Amino acid sequence: MNSKQDKVCDLAIFGAQGDLALRKLFPSLFQLDKAGLLAPETRVIGLARDNIDQPGFKASVVEHLKKYIAADELDNETLQRFSNRLQYIKLDFATEEGYDQLVASRAEVDHRLICYFATPASVYGPICENLSKHQLIDNETRVVLEKPIGYDLESSCKINDQVAKYFHECQIYRIDHYLGKETVQNLIALRFANNLFGSQWDLKHIDHIEITVAEKVGIEGRWGYFDKAGQLRDMVQNHLLQLLCLIAMDPPSDLSADSIRDEKVKVLKALQPITPELLTTHVVRGQYSAGTIDGKPVPGYLEEENAKPSSSTESFVSLKVMINNWRWANVPFYLRTGKRMPEKLSQIIIHFKQQPHYIFAPEQRSIASNKLIIRLQPDEGISLQVMTKDQGLDKGMRLRAGPLQLSFSDTFHTDRIPDAYERLLLELMKGNQYLFVRRDEVEYAWRWCDRIIQGWEDQNTRPQKYPAGSWGPVSSIAMITRDGRSWYEDSA
Ligand code: BG6
Repeated sequence: MNSKQDKVCDLAIFGAQGDLALRKLFPSLFQLDKAGLLAPETRVIGLARDNIDQPGFKASVVEHLKKYIAADELDNETLQRFSNRLQYIKLDFATEEGYDQLVASRAEVDHRLICYFATPASVYGPICENLSKHQLIDNETRVVLEKPIGYDLESSCKINDQVAKYFHECQIYRIDHYLGKETVQNLIALRFANNLFGSQWDLKHIDHIEITVAEKVGIEGRWGYFDKAGQLRDMVQNHLLQLLCLIAMDPPSDLSADSIRDEKVKVLKALQPITPELLTTHVVRGQYSAGTIDGKPVPGYLEEENAKPSSSTESFVSLKVMINNWRWANVPFYLRTGKRMPEKLSQIIIHFKQQPHYIFAPEQRSIASNKLIIRLQPDEGISLQVMTKDQGLDKGMRLRAGPLQLSFSDTFHTDRIPDAYERLLLELMKGNQYLFVRRDEVEYAWRWCDRIIQGWEDQNTRPQKYPAGSWGPVSSIAMITRDGRSWYEDSA
């Protein structure tokens, strides 16, 4: 049992004037407040280097709430209540300046302290050290780490070691915001609450699985960060591998954080390493050139603001991933993610095998397999493609593929689906770690990705070009076509 009241806390946001805090954290906290999910005593303490006073800070938060929340959701009563929770402390992360003020503010209450590091990972260590020097850490303090945690396995271990000097693993909450998305949560329900699917979830019944996370946006003024990372580090090492784990893991014995995380780690350990020999057949990396999105011309990656024209950073990756275990031997997982794709779309498609003996017209065989489509965004929902007979007296036994649809908003009449950060912040305050990533998961994921990155460096080749507004380089299509399959939008 915790001695401090479970739900009451001081949420200290380091980097409170940064993009993440203003765009995601404050709006999500506002929504939680509006839904009555923040304890009345809970305070939100913004910490940043900016020279602003309390009213200036509150005004900047409110300005961003107005920007990111629809006007009809911003009611005055919640705005007032939320604003009253806010405090600002000017603080330099790396030096000791400002920490005394945090100590003074904490002396007024006996709330649990939750430190949210919405800062570059390079200052996680110094912040922890300063918190400790000022006796701000006790066994009930929690700390939230935003991605990217490092640049490779070595740097990630270094950061995790720095934080581990001051916090136990059970106090550390590593964010992967994809784990907070409604449909990602539903993956667990879908798989483990429906025997229909649970019993079919293996190499005997599934032919292959596709995971696509496509974005329309380009680099959006983040060239400095993105060019050092690239799409593999920015999206695959975390979001796509997390999705893969949730799809591929064995049933956990219960829903506790460690039972789920143990199963995810087993998947990461079973990933077939991408050796230099596999690099050309199992991985495609691309970089967008100028093209058209929604009918408007957009520049190429190398022509973006502040771009280095010689950059060989990838803005697209597709991969054929094999999992070496009894459940998934020889079942390919095709992963694909990129910037400047034709649409913003995240979906998982489970392609079931065809039946062992086929009795319908041979020319229809190609459409005759079931697909389970799990849409993460937009239009969250699940649809199962089933074969039925075409209607009409003259159609004979002609088959037609049709969807059994479950649209979350239509079926459950939900007005809005909460943002991933709302759920993550709520679980954080409740102390549930199951939606957060454990240290060994981060490290196994880096180990697997590092090998690919090393392979690219050794080969010294450049990414292949694809026009903005397309689904990536043609070799991404070739990669799946070689296996006699196609990406979903090509076959749909
Ligand atoms: C972030 C990446 O983690 O996820 C961004 O750093 C990316 O590059 C973003 O745009 C995508 O998130 P979402 O929720 O919009 O799919």
